[in-house]
Amino acid sequence: MKQFLTLDDLPNFDDQVALAQAIKADPYQFEKVGKRKTLGLLFFNPSLRTRLSTQKAGRLLGMDVMVMNFSNEAWAIEYEDGTIMEGLRSEHVKEAAQVVSQYCDVVGIRAFATLTDKEKDESEQVLQRFIEHATVPIVNMESATAHPLQALADAITLQELTLPKKPKVVLTWAPHPKALPHAVGNSFTRMMQQMDADFVIANPEGYDLDPRITKDIPVIHNQDEALQGADVVYAKNWCSYEQYGQILRTDNAWMLTPEKMAKTNNAYFMHCLPIRRNVVVADGVLDHPNSKVIEQANNRTFSAAAVLKSLLS
Ligand code: CP
Repeated sequence: MKQFLTLDDLPNFDDQVALAQAIKADPYQFEKVGKRKTLGLLFFNPSLRTRLSTQKAGRLLGMDVMVMNFSNEAWAIEYEDGTIMEGLRSEHVKEAAQVVSQYCDVVGIRAFATLTDKEKDESEQVLQRFIEHATVPIVNMESATAHPLQALADAITLQELTLPKKPKVVLTWAPHPKALPHAVGNSFTRMMQQMDADFVIANPEGYDLDPRITKDIPVIHNQDEALQGADVVYAKNWCSYEQYGQILRTDNAWMLTPEKMAKTNNAYFMHCLPIRRNVVVADGVLDHPNSKVIEQANNRTFSAAAVLKSLLS
């Protein structure tokens, strides 16, 4: 594997999940793989889980790890070619990517969607321009359209649950006061397409994800109907894709509550975190023993370690 931008970069999805599970069972078994190698993590947006779990993953493999927060520590980067750089941007990605490549053997990048320019977001400008000029592998730590490290961790978590042979898994939109990107929903959907499950997406009218990603997955605009008989409920907010970046509704009718979870088959609850309590989901769901959000966060370490191991090998 030369880079990890989406789940489609994995040579074999099931093998990658198995590798992550093996690392979880024996975390230091590959501690020599990254010896004298450096992992650089570049954050253009905030993070708790990705920032800490990916550092931990690098260290499990024996790597040195460097982290840089571009929102307040680095020079602002210009991505367009031929620009007269007389504004606020002091460094061009052509130099920045090559310079970072001098210090690092693998580089992770977090660069969220702008949610103002669909075309630019879908071009994954930050990630792609770094790839163009870097000379080392790049790992997507959540880009405009994908969060594959999260999806891989979610796959590990799903496999750890006690579920029927072909479980019903519901990805449900939930309310949020801010416009959020589609990356988690997209990657969870892509991951579920590789699992043997009855997978449905529930979201209000106007909130359908990119139809090129959801393809033939059933999309239901009635949350109660979708939750009936679910074995796993994964909640996530995203803004409108069609009316790009817009919040179309602000009511709490789609907030997940214990009453709604009662319609399910005693479902497990999942969310990538961070989560706004009593906005996205009621306390009673998040604090229920069936909530698996902490296990998901724990599995981020092993999903990242498996990806780094594959890149280093
Ligand atoms: N789930 C996730 O990516 O969390 P952070 O934004 O805190 O990294």
